[in-house]
Amino acid sequence: MTSELSPIDKAKFVAAKQATEYVKSGMKVGLGTGSTAAWLVQCLGEMVRDEGLQIKGVPTSVRTAKLAREVGIEVITLDEARWLDVTIDGADEYDDDLNLIKGGGGAHLQEKIVATASDRMIVIADASKKVDTLGAFPLPVEVIPFGMGTTQALIEEMLIGMDVLGRTITQRMAGDTPFVSDEGNFIFDLHLKRIGEPRKLSLMLNQIPGVVDNGLFIDTCDMVIVGHSDGRVTVRDILNDATEEVRFNVLDDDNIFADVTD
Ligand code: A5P
Repeated sequence: MTSELSPIDKAKFVAAKQATEYVKSGMKVGLGTGSTAAWLVQCLGEMVRDEGLQIKGVPTSVRTAKLAREVGIEVITLDEARWLDVTIDGADEYDDDLNLIKGGGGAHLQEKIVATASDRMIVIADASKKVDTLGAFPLPVEVIPFGMGTTQALIEEMLIGMDVLGRTITQRMAGDTPFVSDEGNFIFDLHLKRIGEPRKLSLMLNQIPGVVDNGLFIDTCDMVIVGHSDGRVTVRDILNDATEEVRFNVLDDDNIFADVTD
């Protein structure tokens, strides 16, 4: 069964599997969006089904809500939950301070609201997401459709004074039509190449009328769990200033990968 997963999926899976260690019965859990978070949702669903885990999940997108229900997780809204014990989500990039770029899947608005309403946010990722400086991944910015040309011009003007290497802005597309977020908004991708001052950029972007939110997550994440295709997982906890390595045995006949690919 192991061979049925690509190396990158094995890495994402072991990160997700390790993250389930931080989910206990009775918790309210923010469920991220994206391919890595989808592994987490499947793992949690399996624990609900087979181990009697009792959690309430707050999804960060329509697609995560659908998957969570399919695997048997009780889904509630953020307004019903009010506050969450933990949110576990993927990321497009993370740096040494665990600042993030998110929104490659267009869900960063709900993701940020849910993560901010959580005692802690844990990012699960494969090793390719680690960067020295944020910005190689285009920064998603959600904008309302009204006056979006003006909003783009205001972003361009603001970027002139920012410590970035590129200033190209493209509108996110879904095939031939603009991508529309779960909130009914559009997304600009900012091709900045290097973001020298992520905190300042995030604040400046969110001051522009028409910008709903951007994909920079500053001081939101306190743990990153990085999976590798050989079963190794590195857990970095900045709250406790600790790093540990865990290893899943991926060679046994009844290996952990078999559980989710059967
Ligand atoms: C969704 O909008 C994003 O923030 C995702 O969390 C991010 O793009 C990571 O996705 P993958 O796990 O698919 O790489």
